[in-house]
Amino acid sequence: MDPKTLSQHFQTHFNAKPEILVRAPGRVNLIGEHTDYNDGFVLPMAIDREVMIALRPREDETIRLYSLDLETESAFELSSLVREGDWIEYPKGIAYELLKAGFKLKGFDAIMTGDVPRGAGLSSSAAVELAIARAFSAVSGFEWNAPAMAKLAQKAENEWVGVNCGIMDQMASAACKEGFALFLDCRSLEIQHAPLPKGVSVVILDTSTRRGLVDSAYNERRSQCEEAASWFGVKALRDVSVEEFNKRSKDGLNALAAKRAKHIVTENARVLEAIEVMKAGNVKRLGELFNASHDSLRDDFEVTNDALNIMVDCAREQKGCYGARMTGAGFGGCAVALVNEANAAEFVNAVSKAYKQKSSMEAAVYVCKPSQGASLISE
Ligand code: GLA
Repeated sequence: MDPKTLSQHFQTHFNAKPEILVRAPGRVNLIGEHTDYNDGFVLPMAIDREVMIALRPREDETIRLYSLDLETESAFELSSLVREGDWIEYPKGIAYELLKAGFKLKGFDAIMTGDVPRGAGLSSSAAVELAIARAFSAVSGFEWNAPAMAKLAQKAENEWVGVNCGIMDQMASAACKEGFALFLDCRSLEIQHAPLPKGVSVVILDTSTRRGLVDSAYNERRSQCEEAASWFGVKALRDVSVEEFNKRSKDGLNALAAKRAKHIVTENARVLEAIEVMKAGNVKRLGELFNASHDSLRDDFEVTNDALNIMVDCAREQKGCYGARMTGAGFGGCAVALVNEANAAEFVNAVSKAYKQKSSMEAAVYVCKPSQGASLISE
């Protein structure tokens, strides 16, 4: 939706003009899956799908939020935050963490819309969180600090919403730069903006299968990784090299933890290689790393489903495809492919057809552009 249309909706709903417009994007992770909570490396990029909010400050401490997509309004008081277990918990969680961190917040009326598909592995919740944080910063007049807000949003999701996610999604939605992917060291939070190689399209392949994070095997994977790290005697699997893994893992680490650790250790090495080959413009190698990442997530980390594996196979068979892999937490949702720009349109059609034939499901396949992290919109 364009900002003007959202402003008109605000006008209709609240009978006044909005004063501020903000947005925050979803993300696709190029490579580095399940490495963030192992203090490792990730390489996501913000996509041109986002959450947008139009708002108007209030004199009191009420937050009134109308969701255009859900066609429902919810409200809460900054002075008495109570959990109700609804979509409004994401905004409320941000308010809670901001207040806890000592920010002085003002109330507002707002209308929200978005086109990041929910539960697809493209971080729709991080987009809501960062858009709300950006809104609070604009209304309450405190300076926008992208990494600090990403950490705060992650805390809100961990502690208020109760999802034990890592830092990748919030950092991508907060700190990405238009035209660039974001290399992130999840231990130091050091970032590098890495340009995408020329002549390459990033294509999102939505299997249309969904799996929630809260009840998924995500937390189980986290504890298996922690078990392996403690067996190696390190703080996190980031501290185990591929060589060390190969040398020691057969000396009594239980087989399942060893499989999980193998993915993390090799995936971290793949991200470090990916950033180098990306800078060198070596798309062919980048594609090979995508493929190896998926295979490792399928065979060792075991977080793919049939739909994701079928989709990735369909993508890899097409002309101009350098590589394809699942993206996000897994168990459903989206894959991502690196495709020669000249073949992208044809690729989109061919993959959709092939996937339907093999899975009997409809896919949503689209090229996405590396976008800017959370920002103000000037109409
Ligand atoms: C989800 C989490 C992230 C990350 C990915 C897997 O998106 O929110 O923190 O762990 O899964 O890479």
